[in-house]
Amino acid sequence: MKKIIAIVMSLVLFAGVAMLAGCGKKEEKKTLILATSADFPPYEFVGDDGAYAGIDIEVSKLIAEKLGMELQVENMDFNSVISSVQTGKADIGMSGITVTDKRKQSVDFTDSYATGVQVIIVKEGSAIKTVDDLYATGAKYKIGVQLATTGDIYISGDIEDKKMSCSVEEYKTGADAVAALVAGKIDCVVIDNEPAKSFVAANSGLKILDTEYVTEDYAICVSKENTELRDQINTALKELIADGSVQKVVDKYISAE
Ligand code: ARG
Repeated sequence: MKKIIAIVMSLVLFAGVAMLAGCGKKEEKKTLILATSADFPPYEFVGDDGAYAGIDIEVSKLIAEKLGMELQVENMDFNSVISSVQTGKADIGMSGITVTDKRKQSVDFTDSYATGVQVIIVKEGSAIKTVDDLYATGAKYKIGVQLATTGDIYISGDIEDKKMSCSVEEYKTGADAVAALVAGKIDCVVIDNEPAKSFVAANSGLKILDTEYVTEDYAICVSKENTELRDQINTALKELIADGSVQKVVDKYISAE
């Protein structure tokens, strides 16, 4: 009898130690820090419940899961997303980020997971009918953009290089630019198509021009020092695309037209 009790007790003790060890391991689960600018629906935004939501948030959560890591979201201005990955403050940047050669000098990009199109939002009845109107000689429109986005880079660059006579107004967020358009402070906003749709839906009297401006690829950025992480993410992404997980997230946020 004593022997049995001793065996049972040591089993209980063993189980307890094993559980503790298990817990310890769980706490060690590494965090994957995501830099994002949650001002860009449907890719990243703050939901009605105050939680981060959107395609990039959910896909990065799925990636973290695949890597056995815990996702931690760091919300910041878009202007800081790439630099915080470059300096190692964040592990990955996923924020509807367009791959550009210039950005490739600062960070590495994974394979692309989506495409974006730069479009132009105007007030209904605007004199601006096509992209070309912005480039017409003597055109003096005020063009709103989100600071440091490709929309900003293209317009600001073209004002310099192509002698556009329009001017650029840089805002902290796309929503701020759209608010300025609604208030009549600017004449149009250049921004990615999906956020454009969502801002137009949220405000009356706005429309998106039919003519597209530039098509681009979105990808996740990682530090150039962390090629291992980049490769792991590419493997995870491939699997998540192949098994339909990414499409499922996209379908949740973007209705097919
Ligand atoms: N695709 C554009 C870029 O890379 C805009 C991205 C803005 N993203 C955001 N979360 N506000 O510059």
